[in-house]
Amino acid sequence: MLIRYKKSFEKIAMGLLSFMPEVSDVRNLQEIIKEYEGNPDWQLFLWKEEDILGAVGVRVESDRAVIQHVSVNPSHRNLGIGRKMIQSTRNFYKNQYNVCADVATESFIEKCDEESASSQL
Ligand SMILES: CC(C)(COP(=O)(O)OP(=O)(O)OC[C@H]1O[C@@H](n2cnc3c(N)ncnc32)[C@H](O)[C@@H]1OP(=O)(O)O)[C@@H](O)C(=O)NCCC(=O)NCCS
Repeated sequence: MLIRYKKSFEKIAMGLLSFMPEVSDVRNLQEIIKEYEGNPDWQLFLWKEEDILGAVGVRVESDRAVIQHVSVNPSHRNLGIGRKMIQSTRNFYKNQYNVCADVATESFIEKCDEESASSQL
């Protein structure tokens, strides 16, 4: 399930976000975490099963909720966790915002949407 980021999850969140291709170094990672902690328009969620296995961020811009920073622990990939995180995030925001993706997450989110559409046929 999705849970909200809090300071006590900082290390695990930074570990997960470090897998994002656009995250260049530790300073960049700290800036991203600081934005999630301080900017009310940026929300970070973690995916928790027995352990915390993934992270997904959202940036709200007027009527849009932009999904960004999607990452799953490498030992738990290709098991559908990424897709479940996207679906849960979409469901959380969809009544209030147009949910979309940033450049880095676009192709994965398109893939998730295609799979959801075909499973509803
Ligand atoms: C992208 C990521 C979150 C997917 O998590 P996951 O839990 O493995 O995802 P799922 O198990 O739900 O889906 C796996 C499928 O997504 C595909 N996929 C992975 N990354 C993708 C991408 N960037 N674009 C499109 N499809 C992608 C896989 O090839 C796999 O396809 P298949 O089912 O046809 O074999 C994970 O690979 C990750 O953390 N990558 C590093 C961070 C990253 O690159 N983030 C930017 C992209 S979101």
